[in-house]
Amino acid sequence: MAAQRIQYKTIVYIICLTAALGGLLFGLDQGFIANALDSLKGHYQLDVHQGEKYSAILALGGIWGALLSGIFARALGRKNSLIFAGAIFTGASIFSAFLPPLPTLSACRFALGFAVGVSSFIVPLYLSETAPASIRGSMGTLFQLMITIGIFLISVINVYIAKTILNPGRALSYMFLTVAFFATMMFIGAFFLPPSPRWLMLRGLKAEATKVLNRTLNTPEEVETELQEITETLEREKNASSRKTMGPYFFKVLLLGVILQMFQQLVGINAMIYYAPTIFGYAGMKSVVAKLAVPTVNMLFTFPAIALVDRWGRKNLLYLGAILMLITNVAAGIAFHGLDTATGEAEVMKYLLLSSVVVYIFGFAVSWGPVVWLVCSEIFPLAGREIGMTATTMVNWTFAGLVMNYSLSFMKRFGNPALFFTFAFFCALALLFVYFFVPETKGTSLEQIEKNLKAGKPLRTIGYHA
Ligand code: BGC
Repeated sequence: MAAQRIQYKTIVYIICLTAALGGLLFGLDQGFIANALDSLKGHYQLDVHQGEKYSAILALGGIWGALLSGIFARALGRKNSLIFAGAIFTGASIFSAFLPPLPTLSACRFALGFAVGVSSFIVPLYLSETAPASIRGSMGTLFQLMITIGIFLISVINVYIAKTILNPGRALSYMFLTVAFFATMMFIGAFFLPPSPRWLMLRGLKAEATKVLNRTLNTPEEVETELQEITETLEREKNASSRKTMGPYFFKVLLLGVILQMFQQLVGINAMIYYAPTIFGYAGMKSVVAKLAVPTVNMLFTFPAIALVDRWGRKNLLYLGAILMLITNVAAGIAFHGLDTATGEAEVMKYLLLSSVVVYIFGFAVSWGPVVWLVCSEIFPLAGREIGMTATTMVNWTFAGLVMNYSLSFMKRFGNPALFFTFAFFCALALLFVYFFVPETKGTSLEQIEKNLKAGKPLRTIGYHA
């Protein structure tokens, strides 16, 4: 018998599309630097560290956005927070396209980071509350995918612009206008979104919530079931947070999430996402392949990761990724050493460097990229989930900022291979950490994880079934 196809109303497509644009903008801003750095340096006469500083300021904005997004989500509501983020994305990228003096341009990048921080919290939240239950799971992963698609898209567009418009200032304006185009679409789209029914219920506006559900769902029975589910979850959350004292078990999982996010950055991913074209340039590789290899592989291998997390499990993927990244970081370090000291055949060393970075990105995209975010969304007890996720997200941005801010100057100061050997060292530590402390949460319900945690089980066993 053929599976029955569920028909979704047009509004559901608008919800998914607008929310997807939130993920896309995250990616566009994250991937912007890689192939815009030369134009930025050309127009603003930046040295290496000024270039890094401008890039890293996005992370500073991200930290603040992540910190405040919980407050926005409650006070403004999910929909208005998305309109707010869309307005910042649009305003800051249009303003940047006018090429203001560097401090103003940097303030705009801070604002973009802020909007990224807000939307990376609000978009998944809004989708989980508003998209029909049958597509909620895939919507969560859609957000991750859209980030990598955004990184890819802006890399291709920026390479094209830099090749066709030779004046760095004009090229830069067009690059910012590209981001502004997608930002405007998100901003306008957000006005057409219905408010989140769960947020309306949180405010006691049941009639309004019912109205929204009537727009998004197909039958009155579906609306009734959804209303009942929302009421039950809100009740459970109220009970959970009224038991105010959170035992030391909370700090145990908090530390687990914080260290995982720290390693997700210290293995070096954003050095590659931001600076691969520059780093390849140091090795004399300036081809389009060198400019686009990282974002392409990153995007392509996020797809299989999404299927594999529930088949192979989180831990196996984390092992696989850490081992691959460890080996390839060492290989890239050796390749640079060969190039710098002319001890190896230059062409061979260049291919070794390029292939190491490509396999490295494959290793990250299929594992640590999506899995760390997933594990952080699973380990916290209900009462501390919001605080836990906010804190771990802020740690992610803090270490991302450090990597963005210092990678190139680290290479300049300690030699090109040193950066890769340092990242390899963190991959080895990350591997040990996964072995000793990370639980396998595949197939375990969030309630069971919480029960195990409260029963005082060691961290690596909190994913065990009863
Ligand atoms: C990381 C980002 C990174 C992106 C690359 C995410 O999981 O948190 O820092 O830029 O993956 O795809």
